Amino acid sequence: HAGDMIDPFGRAITYLRVSVTDRCDFRCVYCMAEDMHFLPKRDLLSLEELERLCAVFIEKGVRRLRLTGGEPLVRKNIMYLVRQLSRHLETGALDELTLTTNGSQLARFATELADCGVKRINVSLDTLDPEKFRAITRWGVFDKVMHGIEAAQTAGLKIKINTVALKGFNEDEIPEMLRWAHGRGMDMTVIETMPMGEIDADRTDQYLPLSELRARLEQRFTLTDIPYKTGGPARYVEVTETGGRLGFITPLTHNFCESCNRVRLTCTGTLYMCLGQEDAADLRAPLRSSEGNELVSNAIDEAIGRKPKGHDFVIDRTTKRPAVSRHMSVTGG
Ligand code: GTP
Ligand code: 5AD
Ligand code: SF4
Repeated sequence: HAGDMIDPFGRAITYLRVSVTDRCDFRCVYCMAEDMHFLPKRDLLSLEELERLCAVFIEKGVRRLRLTGGEPLVRKNIMYLVRQLSRHLETGALDELTLTTNGSQLARFATELADCGVKRINVSLDTLDPEKFRAITRWGVFDKVMHGIEAAQTAGLKIKINTVALKGFNEDEIPEMLRWAHGRGMDMTVIETMPMGEIDADRTDQYLPLSELRARLEQRFTLTDIPYKTGGPARYVEVTETGGRLGFITPLTHNFCESCNRVRLTCTGTLYMCLGQEDAADLRAPLRSSEGNELVSNAIDEAIGRKPKGHDFVIDRTTKRPAVSRHMSVTGG
């Protein structure tokens, strides 16, 4: 490919995650503080500018694009961007356009997403108990998310449920969630909480190593490792009893950075080369300083040239500050 992006460790960058807004209609307790401060709206790139940046990345070899946030579906006029990006699916320049969402707005957008060529989406859901759901999201309405999921399935979207495994919160609920998701034809992944951004709670208390969870699940289910890959960091097993797939995302207990294929663009035009590192490159200035894309392209090359080997996440009682000070919602997971 003409513009293939290869980092210093020989990894091809083919996957771009775009956080289209840092805002969210929930405040999940492991993600944000209750009085989270968001970026002033004037700092945001316009959707046209985001589209232009995405086009440059696609030109340079990105094959998969995922919109995230915050909550991507709360960004004003977001379907304009989805529709513009879907043109790259039609030309064959892009293999996949996807979304990671909390599901709260899905009932409204599911059909349109499917119309734009979106085939699968990831929905974050940490409990099936409406009261616990309200507690973890601080004020989210569980039924709204359920209606969203139903609408997405009706529209023909394939869904993967993302569940952050939290000690003392949902660890006992995972078997039930697994049966629920698989019973509805959805894949599920469980995720280790990562130390990103100040929150009100103590991450050490929340952290559940997935090796522990897996051992516990194996007392009730037969888990068989399978080579299934989506292009993401999850390692999948098949669950014999449910016939579905379960993925483990284990940044803490089993580092997967050596096969990293991605970079992350924020809604202000900052490019993060790693979720777990502070180093970033500004693409907004080169974007705005010329009509052509050469300066942006050069800035991307320069940034990829210093993509770090991996993250330095650790969670233990001796670490007082999060490894990375920005919140997950800024970088889009
Ligand atoms: P698919 O595999 O394409 O379905 O997507 P994904 O699992 O990469 O994306 P998703 O948005 O569903 O992310 C699930 C979780 O994985 C989120 O908590 C992300 O923060 C985490 N994650 C995704 N990519 C990385 C990564 O490169 N490094 C780390 N440490 N975590 C990641
Ligand atoms: N660690 C792990 N996952 C997180 N998410 C948000 N904050 C964190 C964190 N600190 C999850 C969300 C969603 C995904 C995009 O990231 O629940 O599933
Ligand atoms: Fe919003 Fe997702 Fe963060 Fe929850 S985890 S507050 S849904 S961005």
